[in-house]
Amino acid sequence: MAPSPADSPLAICYGTRPQVIKASVLIEALAPHWPLLTVDTGQHYDYELNALLYEQLGVRKPDVLLGVGSDSHDRQTAAVLTKAAVVLDEHRPWAAVVIGDTNSTLGATLAAAKLRIPVVHVEAGLRASDLLMAEEINRRAVDAVAAALCAPSRQAADRLRAERRDALIALTGDVARDVLERNLARLAGRSDGATDAFVLATLHRAELTDDLDALRSVLVGLSRLPLPVRLPVHPRTRGVLERHGLLSLIGANVSVTQPLGYLETIATIRAARVVVTDSGGVQREAYWLGTPCITLRRETEWTETLTCHANRLLAPSEAAAELPGLVAARASAGRGTWDQTAYGVGDAAVKIAEAISQLAARRR
Ligand code: UD1
Repeated sequence: MAPSPADSPLAICYGTRPQVIKASVLIEALAPHWPLLTVDTGQHYDYELNALLYEQLGVRKPDVLLGVGSDSHDRQTAAVLTKAAVVLDEHRPWAAVVIGDTNSTLGATLAAAKLRIPVVHVEAGLRASDLLMAEEINRRAVDAVAAALCAPSRQAADRLRAERRDALIALTGDVARDVLERNLARLAGRSDGATDAFVLATLHRAELTDDLDALRSVLVGLSRLPLPVRLPVHPRTRGVLERHGLLSLIGANVSVTQPLGYLETIATIRAARVVVTDSGGVQREAYWLGTPCITLRRETEWTETLTCHANRLLAPSEAAAELPGLVAARASAGRGTWDQTAYGVGDAAVKIAEAISQLAARRR
């Protein structure tokens, strides 16, 4: 075990669905080197969004569950900040690892930074142009105060080197790739055994669910597709569909289900003819699995997927008119043979452990 400064633990904070997925490989890579303090903020709490992932991916029970739950962005972030601060102050970890760009990431970062605990940011250096998007605020604020920045791509690392000359910057690749590699062998039998062509669609970002005209356009677009569509619905999206009576817009070709587990999601992305999504994670997973993707946004942080033509952008407001033609074109082009190494090769967690060792050496 590498010595921790002052023998205090290394904290790792997470709380949403994608963070539990990434924590699965991070905890395993970090635990042999340092005593860990695992903190789940409780931002996500539905069985399908979180508890099922703990089971499927063998994530150990968190040492601390903050139980923040859902709320407005300000209150959710503030609740993570104040609750995480109590825990971090009590246990005094020598550093705190945070992941991604959620309100949990920002709240835990502020809690640690204000206690002068160095922050390690996993998935650092990504940028979008919409400065007021919640995830953009979160990732820029975390990148500005973190002591160590672990970049998933070369472009992200180069950007950070220009922005943060004082920080430890490591090009590690993406831990989501590690999780995928590790679980590929477990996929057999996870996608209903269906052999007919279908489209997988996922919709959950606030930018889409808060814009009812855009959401309507997407639902109409999906309903006009000549293929069956599987639509596992995130709780946020389900709430909006029910509150605004939008379920009636969904055509008979679209089957609406509960959110899927991790393994079922991966198996379904692989089996799909085309994926239509607004999720950053699903965009990358489609890229790795060779399934053509259409991203329902005006931009993506994962620009490498566009350059190699694995992914195409489509503004949600244009989906009603454009989605059927675009899906048909992407489906007939067949599965992708693009280079799949823009975000590393599945050894990101090990590289992140190395970066944290360097941080520890600097602090002794
Ligand atoms: C969050 C992240 C986003 C990430 C996504 C993954 C922020 C700002 N956004 O958005 O970056 O891509 O997680 O899923 O942190 N809800 C439930 N049960 C749950 C979770 C949520 O019912 O288990 C409902 C709540 O009513 C809530 C809504 O979903 O109002 C949104 O939850 P929120 O915690 O804001 O997270 P996401 O929208 O998932």
